[in-house]
Amino acid sequence: MRRPLVAGNWKMNGDTESTISLVKGITDGRAEVTNAEVLICPPYILIPRAADALNGRDDISLGAQDLDINQNGAFTGQISASMLVDAGCKYVIVGHSERRAIYGESDQDVADKFKVAQQGGLTPVLCVGETLEERESGETEAVVARQIQAVIDVVGINQLDDAVIAYEPVWAIGTGKTATPEMAQEVHRFIRAMLAALNGDIAEKLRILYGGSMNAGNAESLISMTDIDGGLIGGASLQAESFLAICMAAN
Ligand code: 13P
Repeated sequence: MRRPLVAGNWKMNGDTESTISLVKGITDGRAEVTNAEVLICPPYILIPRAADALNGRDDISLGAQDLDINQNGAFTGQISASMLVDAGCKYVIVGHSERRAIYGESDQDVADKFKVAQQGGLTPVLCVGETLEERESGETEAVVARQIQAVIDVVGINQLDDAVIAYEPVWAIGTGKTATPEMAQEVHRFIRAMLAALNGDIAEKLRILYGGSMNAGNAESLISMTDIDGGLIGGASLQAESFLAICMAAN
């Protein structure tokens, strides 16, 4: 059985005050979430604030939204895997569509980040997903397969053993348009089948999250699908109430 994972991607939102109150809200409701794993990914600078607010609790994991491929040195503005581990992170998101689209990250860049994250002791959450144009031209599976294959080419299938994949159709992110449970399931099933062709055990174990306008109202129908093992949540992760409702839906 795959343990569900609900991850909040705060993106570039929040400050000290909102971080403390959001973490408090989540910790207050956390006990009711008996099965699902809960992860929050604040902006870099708020990770230590969130860690302080967690006050040693380890039933809510910390993650970052990105990392650099270098360990240290003259890379102005960048943050390395070891810095994230030092700050208390267990996970790091790699290849979010906003990084691919806005900051020009290629499949190769994402694969390199995946590798460096694991080498540094972090579990990568690899984001994949098609644009609206790609979906409408029937390329969804080809795009997702290409994005995953780029990582496998660099690290090998066995490294997927300690990773999470998040399927986030670009057209559903921040738009209020969610993939129907059936549409999402179809892509999740495709991803698992692709991996199963390489290693059945890893494919069976790997958690594949859905992301894209998931909220308290639609989470249950999405997460109840066979191959959807939780969610990567943007907007709805910024309020404890909606985030916890999604955690409960995954429970
Ligand atoms: P929204 O939930 O705001 O659509 O964002 C999804 C996302 O990009 C999570 O990484």
